[in-house]
Amino acid sequence: MTDEIDEETVFTRTGTVPAPPVGNADVNWDEFDSQAYFQHNYGELRRDDARIIEIIANFFQTAIPKRLGRAIDVGSGTNLYPALTMLPYSSRVTLFERAFTNRAWLSHELEEPNGSWKYFWDAIASGRLPYANIGDPIDVLHSRADVTRGNIFSLEEDRYDMGTMFFVAESITTRIDEFERAARLFVNSLHRNAPFAAAFMRDSSGYLVGNQFFPACSITEVEVARALAPVARNLHIELVESNDLREGYGGMMVATGRKK
Ligand SMILES: C[S@@+](CC[C@H](N)C(=O)[O-])C[C@H]1O[C@@H](n2cnc3c(N)ncnc32)[C@H](O)[C@@H]1O
Repeated sequence: MTDEIDEETVFTRTGTVPAPPVGNADVNWDEFDSQAYFQHNYGELRRDDARIIEIIANFFQTAIPKRLGRAIDVGSGTNLYPALTMLPYSSRVTLFERAFTNRAWLSHELEEPNGSWKYFWDAIASGRLPYANIGDPIDVLHSRADVTRGNIFSLEEDRYDMGTMFFVAESITTRIDEFERAARLFVNSLHRNAPFAAAFMRDSSGYLVGNQFFPACSITEVEVARALAPVARNLHIELVESNDLREGYGGMMVATGRKK
């Protein structure tokens, strides 16, 4: 018998080992399957999105900026409705996106839009004159949109008059420090007093797009408030019931407010 451990000995640890954190830079975002994500999420208007639309369209209508300004939607993915809610108040709309696949999808979508946007627009415009006055919203968005390659962690400060960020800060990393940084950088990209709306998945454990799994940071309204409080005022966070999108999350959250 010898005390030396054979090189080929395999050690097996029992019990659960915490998964290592997955940061935003650990993911190849250019593998994001845009068409699968669109079909699953925006092929039709669901009740949760209709409720979010109600909250943010009402908010923008009352928080109207005095002049037409520059708007930004951060991490647009394949979702046009956040940008559409800013349309009556913006002269340019930056669709700011890291994934090449999503930028290509957005450019094509503005040329040849899917029919489902009609239902999203009807929900936005119904009973709201500034929206209802716009005849062909996708055409107007097309003429004002700049599909822009960008990384939220490099967003410049004090650039835009209003902004939206939907399911991004918590859905691009498992790291709470990156979630907080992303949420604050989004708000900081706006001018002082600029209105914003942001949506978040609650208690998400990550998500599949096509065959690929993407990381998420499990947060509640407490973490959203903590992340935004240093940079936002008039902060209002509302929970939106949602349970049939997929497994592994506990509803949605919408934050509205103004840049401090
Ligand atoms: C869960 S999707 C949300 C897409 C869309 N906003 C929506 O409402 O469904 C997350 C999006 O963030 C983008 N993204 C990931 N990392 C990013 C980064 N560092 N900067 C900007 N966008 C990023 C992804 O490519 C993807 O489009």
